[in-house]
Amino acid sequence: PLSRSLSMTSLSGVLPAWEEDELPVEDLLLFEVAWEVTNKVGGIYTVIQTKAKITVDEWGENYYMMGPYFEQNFKTQVEGCEPPNPAIRKAMDALIHNGCQVHFGRWLIEGSPYVILFDIGSAAWNLDRWKGDLWQTCSIGLPYHDREANDSLILGSLIAWFFKELWLQNCEIPNVIGHFHEWQAGAGLILSRSRKIPMATVFTTHATLLGRYLCAGNADFYNNLDKFNIDKEAGERQIYHRYCLERAAVHCAHVFTTVSQITAVEANHMLHRKPDVVTPNGLNVKKFSAMHEFQNLHSTSKIRIQEFVRGHFYGHLDFNLEKTLFFFIAGRYEFSNKGADIFLESLSRLNYLLRVRNDVTVVVFFIMPAKTNNFNVESLKGQAVRKQLWDTAHTVKEKFGKKLYDALLTGTIPDMNSILDRDDFTIMKRAIYATQRHSLPPVTTHNMLDDSTDPILSNVRRIGLFNSRNDRVKIIFHPEFLSSTSPLLPMDYEDFVRGCNLGVFPSYYEPWGYTPGECTVMGIPSVTTNLSGFGCFMEEHVSDPAAYGIYIVDRRFRSPEESCNQLTQFMFSFCQQSRRQRIIQRNRTERLSDLLDWRYLGRFYIHARHLALSRAFPEKFKMDPMAPLKTEGFRYPRPYSVPPSPSASLHSTPHHSDVEDDDDESYDEDEEAERDRLNIKAPFALGAMPEGKKK
Ligand code: UDP
Ligand code: G6P
Ligand code: GLC
Repeated sequence: PLSRSLSMTSLSGVLPAWEEDELPVEDLLLFEVAWEVTNKVGGIYTVIQTKAKITVDEWGENYYMMGPYFEQNFKTQVEGCEPPNPAIRKAMDALIHNGCQVHFGRWLIEGSPYVILFDIGSAAWNLDRWKGDLWQTCSIGLPYHDREANDSLILGSLIAWFFKELWLQNCEIPNVIGHFHEWQAGAGLILSRSRKIPMATVFTTHATLLGRYLCAGNADFYNNLDKFNIDKEAGERQIYHRYCLERAAVHCAHVFTTVSQITAVEANHMLHRKPDVVTPNGLNVKKFSAMHEFQNLHSTSKIRIQEFVRGHFYGHLDFNLEKTLFFFIAGRYEFSNKGADIFLESLSRLNYLLRVRNDVTVVVFFIMPAKTNNFNVESLKGQAVRKQLWDTAHTVKEKFGKKLYDALLTGTIPDMNSILDRDDFTIMKRAIYATQRHSLPPVTTHNMLDDSTDPILSNVRRIGLFNSRNDRVKIIFHPEFLSSTSPLLPMDYEDFVRGCNLGVFPSYYEPWGYTPGECTVMGIPSVTTNLSGFGCFMEEHVSDPAAYGIYIVDRRFRSPEESCNQLTQFMFSFCQQSRRQRIIQRNRTERLSDLLDWRYLGRFYIHARHLALSRAFPEKFKMDPMAPLKTEGFRYPRPYSVPPSPSASLHSTPHHSDVEDDDDESYDEDEEAERDRLNIKAPFALGAMPEGKKK
């Protein structure tokens, strides 16, 4: 498995192929370190988990991931086993013999990568000493109360210790690459480097600490990037020590990378180092053998969401589910950074527009975890009532069916007026009476701990979107990540996304933003912004993103008011599409998947590792430091079927067909796709964003 070819062929024939000099991976060990290895927090978990397959394909048994050990995660996601490499066993044993616990196994995800997990609690007794070491090494002091920073130091100290053992005990070991993600993994890098362990290091940031804090505090961030007094800002937010860890890791690394061009600019200002490589985030794209399989999946998942909605709105189901669209926003609960603020404002405007001009209803889901005290009674009752109605219908249907069958057996057609008896009517009436409710369908599915101060709920109160009968926009706030074992909405996140019509992610601070990318590969259109890494990436590589179902709100050069109007307009025009237009648009969206596939984007990681080796071991690994990334960029052309004038395709929805609400998805786009392929426009280098688009 160690032999590999670095020549990546184009996936679809559209994307450019690429060649990079081969690395002798047999003589190398690659360790990738992150707090999120086997431990789900947010998008970094998605990076690590989806990238595993291509990295294992390339590195085989020489690839190891490292992170913190949590018993529950290990039990449910990892199959314990012996390390295949005796040097790894020895290094682990050195730590274990000193009282620290280290676990080894295969992570049960695609690619089954090896993981080395360090038990933070078992080593916590060293904390004071290690704090002293950190202070001696680089004068960074960690306060007592910051648990997250202390844990990251314990992890980092264990990892640096592990690397040292690996090096000391095995003079003959191959060269090592250590790839560290985000500040929580930074201490491991700083300590390994200060102890002069011979290894090539890469550090990847997925955000800057200060950027995230400043934006959440409503700073006019992008217009003042060069004006912040960063030490002062960090100090005032009581994150100075974390910030020092982050900045030290950035400067210790042989190669520094970040996930997008926009974060590269930010990092240059906040951390004072320009990233060497931009490593955009990919996904592990599933391809179905049947062309329209993803459309069928949309349909089946949508039916499940409709069922939930029937229960949630019982007694108030006076809107037509066939004319109801499902929108959603999802992610960690950073209210303004994730753009939930302008989303709510735009929804109140959309509500008005739909009331006066349209018969579409929009049900909007907010999937953002907050502190709760479990599901609320009203939501659970809704699903119980729906279930009861279903059971009643089923019972009556069975009786009806039996009587009908008996009658047909005797050669008669039964009298339809008497086939149901009084009992049948009674149970049906009872079931209907149970659906009466005196309150509006709830906005939130859970009992919120901070109900009165919660930002989503406070804004819902302000704009008055309470799910009343005449609202065309209905809100459901599900303050917990989705799970297929939920008693309320038993769907996992992927199935839920597939069943929706539009993902809305109008972020203000978003170094990459996986959520719209995940929509794209499932063929679901989404809204993103030109302040998200993903949005900028799409703007750069796709000629008419909106035609492909990627709506990019301008939050960089417009006022919040204008951005709100633009978002409202995007959503309103989306609501005006016919079913057929939505089907065509989904086909186009899905066509962009290859661009987001790790099989394509993985090349930037390969390049970063190669560069790190050439800097750490220049004798052995040669690379022209000035050589640009040997990959050619390109742009997806505007879909053939979109009219050429921008004004004619104002919101770039698929052009109007004369068939309104035609349910036929068999519309064959192959021909259109082929024409699009032949129409590829002038390429420019991938990763190099043209001037003027940098912010
Ligand atoms: N996500 C999830 N379950 C949910 C909602 C979201 O697993 O119910 C995941 C989603 O798939 C995505 C991640 O959370 O991969 C959020 O990543 P993103 O990069 O958008 O934002 P971050 O949270 O890292 O800022
Ligand atoms: C898919 C299915 C169709 C279904 C449609 C609903 O394309 O194959 O059978 O009618 O989804 O689309 P909509 O945009 O209304 O959710
Ligand atoms: C961070 C960023 C997010 C990005 C993720 C993965 O959590 O906030 O935008 O998608 O990392 O890189």
